[in-house]
Amino acid sequence: MLNPEQIAQDAAAAFAATDDPDALEQIKARYLGKSGRITELLKGMAALSSEEKKTTGAAINRAKTAIEAALERRREALREQALAARLAGESLDVSLPGRGEPRGGLHPVTRTQERVEALFRSIGFEVADGPEIEGDFQNFAALNMPKDHPARSMHDTFYLLDENGRVAEDILLRTHTSPIQVRYMQAHVARHARLGTMPEIRIIAPGRVYRVDSDATHSPVFHQVEGLWIGEQVSFADLKGVVAEFLRRFFESDDLQVRFRPSFFPFTEPSAEIDVAFMSGVLEGRWLEIAGCGMVHPNVLRHVGIDPEKYLGFAFGMGLDRLTMLRYGVNDLRLFFDGDLRFLRQFV
Ligand code: PHE
Repeated sequence: MLNPEQIAQDAAAAFAATDDPDALEQIKARYLGKSGRITELLKGMAALSSEEKKTTGAAINRAKTAIEAALERRREALREQALAARLAGESLDVSLPGRGEPRGGLHPVTRTQERVEALFRSIGFEVADGPEIEGDFQNFAALNMPKDHPARSMHDTFYLLDENGRVAEDILLRTHTSPIQVRYMQAHVARHARLGTMPEIRIIAPGRVYRVDSDATHSPVFHQVEGLWIGEQVSFADLKGVVAEFLRRFFESDDLQVRFRPSFFPFTEPSAEIDVAFMSGVLEGRWLEIAGCGMVHPNVLRHVGIDPEKYLGFAFGMGLDRLTMLRYGVNDLRLFFDGDLRFLRQFV
């Protein structure tokens, strides 16, 4: 008869020799299955005496327990091997940089424009818009600058060619945001024509403007924001109050000094230039020009169909690029137009 201990050793060796869980189960059948070797041994016991049955039976049972234990250990080892292989195969390097989209940001001048819009909206101004390609009437004539008016020479701009290749007489790239005033007032008058009376106009109009000019503080393309308040009782004192309050809120500075210096514009009378001075920082104590302004000239009101005997108001035109330079301490206007990301990223 086969030695049970030997069989148990064979079984353990056979289990250890396979790496395949299915094969392992088949090997198990060879020892513990219906016609496995342990089962065969048990069947052979029938021929033994009762004395022999005791000792042989005990030996067979020890062998059987040993085989089952060896089998369980091997199953467990193969499960661990499989798990380790899977983990190695599916490894994920969490330290790799992500593939997210880089974050963009608003251009500093756009940020200024949005800030200006928010501040004026908060005191009841509407935001108006107009085309960058303008008519001679809106850009000049309606603003009291007829053809050959000397003030036009300060507004040299880019002219457009007509279909015959000649310089178009009546269209140009707008030199300031003031033509938006003209358009807005005309539309406003048309809207309220039947009323006999006219609600107040209170707008700002930001936008891109063009002039033939280029140095550290002048760019052929730049930005302005126009302000206009027309009503029956709007005074120069209102102009000063609105502008000074706006500037203090824009620069978040209560001790900002604001000065109105007499000036000339064909479309306002009287006219002034607005200067600001900071009471601290690198620009401390220096007067910096920031806007032109004045009471809207009666001729401008007449040109858009508003009765200057009944209505009056103020207008101002501020440099958005200049506001941005002062707010962020930028000393060269051209930086805003170069598109250099090393500069622009600082504002994100
Ligand atoms: N449009 C003027 C300019 O660009 C500025 C201005 C606007 C002055 C409104 C007075 C009133 O020079």
